[in-house]
Amino acid sequence: MRSYYYDTPEKIVSVEDLKAINILYFPMNMEGYVEQLNNICETRGYKNRDEVKLNKDTPNLEDKLKIFFEEHLHDDEEIRFILDGCGFFDVRDGNDQWIRIRVEKGDLIIVPANMYHRFALDENRYVHAMRLFTDAPKWVPINRNKVAAN
Ligand SMILES: [Fe+2]
Repeated sequence: MRSYYYDTPEKIVSVEDLKAINILYFPMNMEGYVEQLNNICETRGYKNRDEVKLNKDTPNLEDKLKIFFEEHLHDDEEIRFILDGCGFFDVRDGNDQWIRIRVEKGDLIIVPANMYHRFALDENRYVHAMRLFTDAPKWVPINRNKVAAN
């Protein structure tokens, strides 16, 4: 995991800085993460999980990526454990500046509820991630700046 300001990449954001805006990061031991993962799930109340893969063979990948890159939030945490490949979570800091968080194999990240964010892949276009949920799997984005007409 590596995080920095999107507009000024030389400005590094530490794990502690992320924690200060309620983003949690767990480095996972990929040699045997089951117990570690189960502990996190038990402590934080994650009852469900599934796995998603995005790669160049994913139908309509670029359209999907456009949707993921729309700034949005959720009314629940977004928890992603990267099993392979890599991706970027962009999140807003307290001053509405984008922080880019590069996640790769072995990174588990928790974006809190109601925090604006977006997701992107790098040019390799590959990620395999586990999604964890407190309830039944769902992914309902609430896009920013999309106020209903009239
Ligand atoms: Fe999201």
